[in-house]
Amino acid sequence: MSRIVVVSNRVAPVDEGKASSGGLAVAVLAALKRAGGIWFGWSGEIAENSSGSPGIRQVGRLTYATIDLTQRDYEEYYNGFANSTLWPLFHYRLDLTEFSRRTYAGYLRVNSLFASKLAPMLRDTDMIWVHDYHLIPFGEQLRQMGFDQRMGFFLHTPWPVPEMLLALPNHDSLVRSLCAYDVVGFQTEGDRKAFVDYLIREVGGEIVDGNRIRAFGRTLRVEAFPISVETREIESQAAQSAGSRQIERLRVSLAGRELIVGVDRLDYSKGLPQRFQAFEELFEHYPANRGQVTFMQIAPPTRTEVAEYAQIRRELETMAGHINGKFAEFDWMPIRYLNKSFPRRRLLGFYRCARIGLVTPLRDGMNLVAKEYVAAQDPDDPGVLVLSRFAGAAPELAVGAIIVNPYDVEGVAESLQRALNMPREERRERHAAMMKVLRENDISHWRERFVQALEAAPYG
Ligand code: UDP
Ligand code: G6P
Repeated sequence: MSRIVVVSNRVAPVDEGKASSGGLAVAVLAALKRAGGIWFGWSGEIAENSSGSPGIRQVGRLTYATIDLTQRDYEEYYNGFANSTLWPLFHYRLDLTEFSRRTYAGYLRVNSLFASKLAPMLRDTDMIWVHDYHLIPFGEQLRQMGFDQRMGFFLHTPWPVPEMLLALPNHDSLVRSLCAYDVVGFQTEGDRKAFVDYLIREVGGEIVDGNRIRAFGRTLRVEAFPISVETREIESQAAQSAGSRQIERLRVSLAGRELIVGVDRLDYSKGLPQRFQAFEELFEHYPANRGQVTFMQIAPPTRTEVAEYAQIRRELETMAGHINGKFAEFDWMPIRYLNKSFPRRRLLGFYRCARIGLVTPLRDGMNLVAKEYVAAQDPDDPGVLVLSRFAGAAPELAVGAIIVNPYDVEGVAESLQRALNMPREERRERHAAMMKVLRENDISHWRERFVQALEAAPYG
């Protein structure tokens, strides 16, 4: 069997149990832990220069190999093209998308740096699996260095429709570099279709058969592989965590009130201002909930050097202050707004205590929190998932979640009211339907499907 070499900008903290607040790191770790392999990426550190060899750490069967970035790389590649161009564009925020040749050049330079640092570690038989928007040109750059083994790419974010993508000045070279992979995976059918539409309409791509498409002189397999969670582990960890001292403290602090929970990086794609408004609307429109419901929003800051992230942070602080000032009583605070991250085990206990999991992104590749919330419930008395139709998880979880339009603030408030009053029998049925999906498509299934697709790709 070939060795798997995973490449991503962010790697999970080597220290397991430490909070890591991004879906990619959480999911890739869950997928690789048992099977082992190499995980190559950014150390998270800034250094004077990036000329050294990768730092190596062995954890169980997994070898972490990481490199530092210089301040300039960090600004142009990470804060710049990755997070000020591709991230907003892929999340349909053209209004926030910045284009600059300088940051694009930095993006290509760092991709090439990654490729040259990984190259000496590679064996001919290795399969390479690249993750996410930071490293789209990585495979093409390895190929230019003479590597011809199987290479796959998985995009964790949405892929935008051609009309959006065309706004990117260098859209064609970005797409051409994706075609250097043998397998390109997306989260949903919608993302896959948007990519194929672009290939057919803009560059004369042709469908060879089913999932295979020919473009830029290569044939690649393009498929949806919805990412998932370790369903069974979450079920048992959540049950354990629910009995812990901290969770007991949470319960005591709620004093019998219902809990609504939200967990998101503090990112403008997550729809947090609209979510806060919907919560305010719940008290305006259904005043019986005042004093009876608590909303806990966990929102660890992320990408803090990008201006839009600092701005949304200020906006949410103002909103939380406003709502609490308006409705709080001497013995009750409507919103608990926490700008910090928690180890996932603790989150699972929080989820299990919450009558509602509120997941309302304006756009999201998948949203693992939605899946974790469901898997963490007590099947006998489960909570309700209120889920945005714009989350990649919606097609799979529509069997049991209340699906909402996050822009429709009144509609979300109405759904919260419905969820708060949903009879236990209905909650159980909805939960069971979602668990069936999550047991079939868990993280191992996701990994196996992708690896099998890559193994089936013609070699060389
Ligand atoms: N997470 C965590 N601690 C936190 C906040 C989030 O461990 O304080 C984890 C969460 O459990 C989930 C991931 O970070 O596994 C977030 O993934 P998701 O797909 O929901 O969103 P992303 O951050 O990737 O956009
Ligand atoms: C999303 C992206 C990941 C990223 C994560 C955390 O899940 O798809 O690629 O790692 O957010 O963001 P950060 O910028 O801290 O890596």
